[in-house]
Amino acid sequence: MKHLTLANGDRMPALGLGTWKSSPGEVGAAVETAIELGYRHIDCAAIYGNEAEIGEAIARCVAKGTVTRDQLWITSKLWNDCHAPEHVGPALDATLERLGLEHLDLYLIHWPVAHVHGAVLPKQTSDFVSLDDLPISATWAALEACVDAGKTRHIGVSNFSAAKLASVCEGARVQPACNQVELHPYLQQRALVDACAQRGVLVTAYSPLGSRDRAASFKAADEPVLLEDPSIAAIAERLGCSPAQVLIAWAIDRGTSVIPKSVNPQRLAQNLASASIELDADARQLILTLDRERRYIDGTFWTPPGSPYSLATLWDE
Ligand code: A2P
Repeated sequence: MKHLTLANGDRMPALGLGTWKSSPGEVGAAVETAIELGYRHIDCAAIYGNEAEIGEAIARCVAKGTVTRDQLWITSKLWNDCHAPEHVGPALDATLERLGLEHLDLYLIHWPVAHVHGAVLPKQTSDFVSLDDLPISATWAALEACVDAGKTRHIGVSNFSAAKLASVCEGARVQPACNQVELHPYLQQRALVDACAQRGVLVTAYSPLGSRDRAASFKAADEPVLLEDPSIAAIAERLGCSPAQVLIAWAIDRGTSVIPKSVNPQRLAQNLASASIELDADARQLILTLDRERRYIDGTFWTPPGSPYSLATLWDE
């Protein structure tokens, strides 16, 4: 398994298991199967609503002797309604409690978007708090205190533009280890990936398969289906693998970590095997031409009329 090395020498497995959209009732079996197959990196978040079941699966694997805690890389994320410094430590404590862990390997600010505490999903614009009133720098300082307290080995961000990442780096005592963003051949974000590399910030690619299983309300009727892209299919046929494997191998090939979600044992195994698929120059060249700056997760849920957030300020584009 390929690893990405952090500044202090810690190693994050390049391929992890995504758990967004993995329902309670199925996520536990998926995590247990994944660990048995050889996954050593699990990506979680408080908002996914499934951390307790993931924690039970991890505990079963440790109890059986399949893995030790130290062999696993566990990431989770701070939700938007807990950005105020006094809520950060308790939010991490709650995640650790649900996961049954003493520490995380990585804790991320899930979005550069703040809500009123308790407004988990905003129902009205007054549920949003502007970053002018609750700056990321204040949230970051509270995350740094979580590192000091030994509750997480690393901290980082998610859905951050290069400009927002730069501002965190410039004010940070503990540098961000990672920026987790949507990345796949239709949204390659080369400038952002380069900006992260220049700062020594690892990049994790989410929705690498195009997240077809997300709620219909988040989907455009005419959205292109990444897993059915003819160029990806052609590469898959030539290399003797599946389209999903091409997508996962491409993410690893370009130096990012990647967290495909599956709850299906065959697809879990197939996705793990992608880590040993080698792309060639022709495949890389063809995939470069597929970029269309197409976000599947475009952030419009944070930008209703009257919100302090707009797509322009969210992505700094
Ligand atoms: P399932 O969980 O039933 O396997 P993303 O990681 O981009 O969010 O995509 C997750 C979606 O892709 C889910 O619908 C998942 O379904 C599906 N998926 C995961 N692995 C594969 C695969 N190897 N081939 C096809 N679809 C896959």
